[in-house]
Amino acid sequence: MGFVVTLDGPAGSGKSSVAKRLAERLDFNYLDTGALYRAIACCMDRNGIAPDENARFMEYLGSMRVRIDGNGVFVNGEDVAALIRSPRVDSVVSAYSALKPVRGALLGLQRDQANHGNLVTDGRDMGTVVFPEANVKFFLTATPEARAERRYKELLKKGEPALYDEVLAQMRERDRIDAGREFAPLKEPIDSIHVDTSDMTVDEVVDRLTDIVKEGLGV
Ligand code: DC
Repeated sequence: MGFVVTLDGPAGSGKSSVAKRLAERLDFNYLDTGALYRAIACCMDRNGIAPDENARFMEYLGSMRVRIDGNGVFVNGEDVAALIRSPRVDSVVSAYSALKPVRGALLGLQRDQANHGNLVTDGRDMGTVVFPEANVKFFLTATPEARAERRYKELLKKGEPALYDEVLAQMRERDRIDAGREFAPLKEPIDSIHVDTSDMTVDEVVDRLTDIVKEGLGV
């Protein structure tokens, strides 16, 4: 098992951008677990299968083969990386990721990534459920307004029509579902390092985390 660094936190806290750059700096592998939940939600939704543990849902889930390869996420061989960042997937993903069978289907795949080298990974339950023995755990957060502002700017940059108030309302709704769900809710690990990124640039956060991990590695 490699050296494992986990980053948990709510949507828009900057985890994914930070985790990706932290992995590059440290020359570690990077695993974006949100992409896995998004891939499942996207394919289910596209096939008209509601987040509901009925027979059709379970059968489709059982037939899904999710794989990550570099920056690509593949479901049954199809690269879905470009499809999973849409506002539609943003709005449906929490409902699918709250279901126990969905979480169970992704657990082994996530843990296995630590067998292929040192790892930086981000999500909601990385330090609590997936890697409770991780070497360094971070919890990144920011005010809902700061997080909504980031997401809003990201959407405008991509040319997607967006209203700040709607983005903020959706962000609060995702927080509510992610933190309130029964299985593996978003929760700060007791042994994690808390970082509020509201007034920090991505570079500042990456610098700070790199220093802490290097200290942990003894380099
Ligand atoms: O980080 P993100 O916005 O790409 O995550 C998308 C959704 O997936 C988010 O609403 C919660 C869920 N998720 C999860 O439940 N557990 C994880 N480890 C990662 C993401």
